[in-house]
Amino acid sequence: MKLRFLAFSLALAASTTAFAQHEMEVNTKKVGAEVSPTMYGLFFEDINFAADGGLYGELVKNRSFEFPQAYMGWRVFGNVELKDDGPFERCPHYVVLSDPGHKERRTGLQNEGFFGIGVEKGKEYRFSVWAKAPKGKSQIRVQLINEQAMYERQNFSEVKIDISSMEWAKYEVVIKSARTEPKANLRIFLSGKDPVCLEHVSLFPKDTYKGRKNGLRRDLAEALEDIHPGVFRFPGGCIVEGTTLDTRYQWKNTIGPVENRPLNKNRWEDTFDYRYFADYYQSYGLGFFEFFQLCEDIKAEPLPVLSVGLACQFQNKEEAHAAMDELQPFIDDCLDLVEFANGPVDSKWGKIRAEMGHPAPFNMKYLGIGNEQWDTHYYERLKPFVKAMREKYPEIKIVGTSGPDSEGKMFDKGWEAMKVQKADLVDEHYYRNEEWFLGTADRSKYPNCGALRYDSYSRKGPKVFAGEYACHGKGKKWNHFETSLYEAAFMTGIERNADIVEMATYAPLFAHVDGWQWRPDMIWYDNLRMFKSVSYYVQQMYARNKGTNVLTLTTADPQDAKGKKRVPVAGQEGMDGLFASSVYDKNTDEIVIKVVNTSKTAQPVSISLNGMKGERAATTLTLSHSGSMDDENTLDQPEKIRPVEGKLQCIDGKKGTVLSDQIPAMTFRLYHIKK
Ligand code: AHR
Repeated sequence: MKLRFLAFSLALAASTTAFAQHEMEVNTKKVGAEVSPTMYGLFFEDINFAADGGLYGELVKNRSFEFPQAYMGWRVFGNVELKDDGPFERCPHYVVLSDPGHKERRTGLQNEGFFGIGVEKGKEYRFSVWAKAPKGKSQIRVQLINEQAMYERQNFSEVKIDISSMEWAKYEVVIKSARTEPKANLRIFLSGKDPVCLEHVSLFPKDTYKGRKNGLRRDLAEALEDIHPGVFRFPGGCIVEGTTLDTRYQWKNTIGPVENRPLNKNRWEDTFDYRYFADYYQSYGLGFFEFFQLCEDIKAEPLPVLSVGLACQFQNKEEAHAAMDELQPFIDDCLDLVEFANGPVDSKWGKIRAEMGHPAPFNMKYLGIGNEQWDTHYYERLKPFVKAMREKYPEIKIVGTSGPDSEGKMFDKGWEAMKVQKADLVDEHYYRNEEWFLGTADRSKYPNCGALRYDSYSRKGPKVFAGEYACHGKGKKWNHFETSLYEAAFMTGIERNADIVEMATYAPLFAHVDGWQWRPDMIWYDNLRMFKSVSYYVQQMYARNKGTNVLTLTTADPQDAKGKKRVPVAGQEGMDGLFASSVYDKNTDEIVIKVVNTSKTAQPVSISLNGMKGERAATTLTLSHSGSMDDENTLDQPEKIRPVEGKLQCIDGKKGTVLSDQIPAMTFRLYHIKK
């Protein structure tokens, strides 16, 4: 009995005993390097049905019958014919609905949307179609239906549209949904006997982001805005390269009237046969104009990335790429893009921007050339791009890439080549495991892992763009709390090194729960709901609290017996899993401190704000798990884990104001203190 009691007491003591106090100092007297306004941002790629079926508000799949299987996404019945001499040159297909031959028979078609069509009771949806009536008049009935419903009628909303001309014209009506259905279908019946031709059949929620036609799904776009991102990288990712060059993302195909934007096969249809979606295409309805507009709306610096003439290097050999003497059209794409974004309204490409409704320039400042390329194939191709860009647009910052590795021979070779070519930034990609993010991975393989990664980077030459990164748990590749916490820990190193790291974007951004190929991802959704992952909140906590200048935050080196050497707090041995960084915000005159406790034990910390005097009130924002490291947010529990606000009182100390706190186990906490 006694022994059992002793064991229980010891266990209790172990679970509540905190480690010795960790003393840190922030030098508030010396304001350090500027934190670039672009620092924490977003990386958008059309992977996981992020564009069509995701951020792009369109609810109809294969709206122009341009998929190689023309009726993919559709079910047609009765007398339906496919034709290809429609009004839109680059999307020539359309359907003709004709008399089924008997008064009790029907002609029509039905669209399944993207994993169904999500509609909400009482909300309005904008249906539009290009149509003509070969006999001068015809009528269609447009319905929202649920085939599986046990109601008497499958349709719960219907409108009739009279087609009144033999010429092609756009018809538009608003349908109010009488029900909430996450997986409805759109059905169109031909009424009567008179034939009708239909093209570009479209359905959007009326309530899009900023209320725009051809707009974005509001909840998803608002989630982006809510982060306060500094930069927005688009359109990818591997889709910039394509599985083959002819399916690479081509921005010129994504501008002008949506009806005439040609279809492209999505590269992510090809990649993983164990998560295969045969109907993954790009309508380009969310194109470069819409991307630039979104950047403006969410106040993020646009960072487009274009092809350097290489098809995806993972998937191809030399012969798949554009040869050196075939690069001019790719180079022109870069030059013309600057004109499209920034050129005067009387320039060729600036005129198109103006016609699309944006005469003012988008003020693009960065251009990525090549996505995740490596080796000589890349370096030699990049040269003529850089030359042409420098000659014509020396003000544009060029972003090169170090390839898919976080370190190693090819990574070093990439950095060297970017230095030689004087790229302004190098786009680094690292999807790594827990140990890498914590800095405890095998250093012989991963010498640059963890939050000290950038401390040793040369300050001469290109800046860093951490363009794709995420912690992928070993055997746990999903959005759970633990990996997000380690991302927060790692990011203290990004923040401390803001003099060399100009921007950083977590990846990927979006995923449809019914259509993903890759995880973890930052924001998940189905047709009606969405949730923000814990990684989203980590990014948001950094982005909204990035301050304007770095402050030095140090502690006594636990490895230095004399205790004189001071080092950053980056999870080194003896730090008990603590990571920390600090910035000053000159706009609010506040000190911001971020502390991440990655240990399984609460950690008492005492942080002296050297140079400040007297007591101070601090506000806190804390992100912690709700019981298990595997905790995650879900569609059913979207806010299970989210940052929680709090308060704390700082006291006067010997060297300055002192903030004392006990950081709970596995917790990210940030503090704001007025200077
Ligand atoms: O983010 C997913 C993919 O990872 C990107 O398309 C590519 O750049 C990287 O390999």
